[in-house]
Amino acid sequence: MSDQTPQSGYAAAHRTLEGKSALFAVLTTVVILIGGIVEIIPMFSATAGPEHLAGVTPYTPLEQAGRDIYTSEGCYVCHSQMIRPTRAEVLRYGEWTRAGEYEYDHPFQLGSRRMGPDLQRVGGKYPDAWHFEHMRDPRSTSPGSVMPPYTWLHEGTYDVADIQASLRALQKVGVPYTDEEIANAPQAIQAQAQEITARLAQAGITTQPDRKIVALIAYLQRLGKDGKAAIAAQQAAQAAVPPGATP
Ligand code: HEC
Repeated sequence: MSDQTPQSGYAAAHRTLEGKSALFAVLTTVVILIGGIVEIIPMFSATAGPEHLAGVTPYTPLEQAGRDIYTSEGCYVCHSQMIRPTRAEVLRYGEWTRAGEYEYDHPFQLGSRRMGPDLQRVGGKYPDAWHFEHMRDPRSTSPGSVMPPYTWLHEGTYDVADIQASLRALQKVGVPYTDEEIANAPQAIQAQAQEITARLAQAGITTQPDRKIVALIAYLQRLGKDGKAAIAAQQAAQAAVPPGATP
């Protein structure tokens, strides 16, 4: 039997150790603890997070309201918000995504699947009226689209108190909203919503500033804009360094 085969010193010692179950359990625990410490210590001692991108600022209250609608409607099920650094993606969607662009995103909307296109830089790609019609009936702007219509967003209204609660929660997790900004959110929301309804009216669309669709449009039109400007500024600064100089 294999048990009978002569064993080297190490194997024999190990076999003896396996026989002493209490000692073996203690030694196993020690080894696991060492592994655990090696994993955990760097997590607490690392101070540098992703680099802050100068120019990336928190969402306005109305945009944040739109973001909450985006999350609650589950748009992330079909849309990603992350442009990979590959040529095909950059040609289609624009600059690849930098970590600093997500600084004020709680929770992230990276998405895991693309039934529809990436939305990281959709801000400014279409006029407000396009989004209004697309959300009402996706096939009216994009023939053959498999995106479902979201007509209730054109009827439903957002709740200003909810938005303020959302801003307070974000403040707790480190988004730099001031108490004053949160207190004055109703006015800020009103002003931005009216700008959007005025632009929609110019395109012949009548709606009210308190509709969910208005908040969603505010959010979609903001997506990726700060990041795009910040990256362009970084690239311009790099290009200004004379050849041969160490930046
Ligand atoms: C079942 C999957 C699905 C869901 C859910 C979905 N979409 Fe889409 N979306 C698509 C598809 C497919 C397209 C591409 C065709 C089109 O333009 O309609 C698209 C296109 C878009 C576009 C245009 C992107 C571009 O660059 O042309 C926007 C903006 C958009 N969706 C926003 C949303 C929002 C906001 C929600 C949630 C309220 C949502 N989508 C939910 C599938 C989906």
